[in-house]
Amino acid sequence: MITGKGITKTFKQRGSVLAGREVQALRGVDFEIPKGGAVSFIGESGCGKTTLGRIIAGLETYDGGEIGINGTLMSSLKQKQRQPYFRRIQMIHQDPYSALNPTRTIHQTLYAPLKLRAKQTGRDEKWIDERAAEVLSLVGLDPGSVLSRYPHQLSGGMRQRVVIARALTVDPEVLVADEAVSMIDVSLRLGILALLKDLRERLGVSVLFITHDVATSRYIGDDGEMYVIYRGQVVERGPVDTVIADPVHPYTQSLLSAIPVLHGLEEPGAQPVVPVEAMDGSQEAQGCLFASRCPFRQDRCETERPVLQVTEGAPQEHACFYPERRDVIARPMSGV
Ligand SMILES: Nc1ncnc2c1ncn2[C@@H]1O[C@H](COP(=O)(O)OP(=O)(O)OP(=O)(O)O)[C@@H](O)[C@H]1O
Ligand SMILES: [Mg+2]
Repeated sequence: MITGKGITKTFKQRGSVLAGREVQALRGVDFEIPKGGAVSFIGESGCGKTTLGRIIAGLETYDGGEIGINGTLMSSLKQKQRQPYFRRIQMIHQDPYSALNPTRTIHQTLYAPLKLRAKQTGRDEKWIDERAAEVLSLVGLDPGSVLSRYPHQLSGGMRQRVVIARALTVDPEVLVADEAVSMIDVSLRLGILALLKDLRERLGVSVLFITHDVATSRYIGDDGEMYVIYRGQVVERGPVDTVIADPVHPYTQSLLSAIPVLHGLEEPGAQPVVPVEAMDGSQEAQGCLFASRCPFRQDRCETERPVLQVTEGAPQEHACFYPERRDVIARPMSGV
């Protein structure tokens, strides 16, 4: 079980135009990734999903808050002592081609981490070969035909399977899949998502899905927990089915409305519109972060910031003063 409490992260922007400006990438995020469970982070570009995923995988520092791994608080450990904890949280990136060394065969790719593992656990070369074949079989690849090949000789879907196989060499507790199917041919995406689900069931590994695509987040499984993130704040959180069927935050509603087939928006007609704009996180608001885009805002929303909580009548946690079921449609703002 991985837990986070009040995680904050601020980046100082570099580059000529934004130099010195601060971006609050995460504003006090709480999360739980149960053992063997599935969690998805969803939200538009720049909302902080990857930053949070990287923090969870130990690849990024954070300014405030606390991460706990199986009951051990990371703040109680020295940097070096944290490594064994974070090693079992493996990140799978969106581009399987750049994740693999093009000059190495699949055998060589798997050999390096397995050699380390063998050393740690007192195993021999025979074990390494067996384990290489085993992790490839686990991801649905035929070791006999794949081991001697180079990445460019495989399809995108097969390459992503190799990346997952490599992650399995360390017996991970959590796989962090950051837009893991977005660069893969549409016809192969479902196979990868089904594989992650299968690994959860067979190995008890937890999966964290990071995606801007609601359709993808549906595949995390019925027992999955969905976190909707807006400008570094979790604005709605609950069981994936509940959030999709019954969203109460206007931002979640606007995200979902991009897939009319899921939401029954055959006749958008006179429904309120939530404008979609490019975000840079630098426009600070005193009140609700979503107020400037929200067609349902009231005076209170401009001055007070709602926190994530459960209120009567709303089925899941939300950060909205006026949570209710509404049908909205998202539309790009003019000029964007
Ligand atoms: N290394 C960095 N230096 C400065 N700013 C950063 C850095 N990494 C992220 N940011 C900023 O932090 C914010 C959150 O970025 P992040 O990559 O986590 O978003 P995201 O939700 O993963 O977006 P996307 O869907 O485009 O991948 C953005 O405003 C981004 O510009
Ligand atoms: Mg990202």
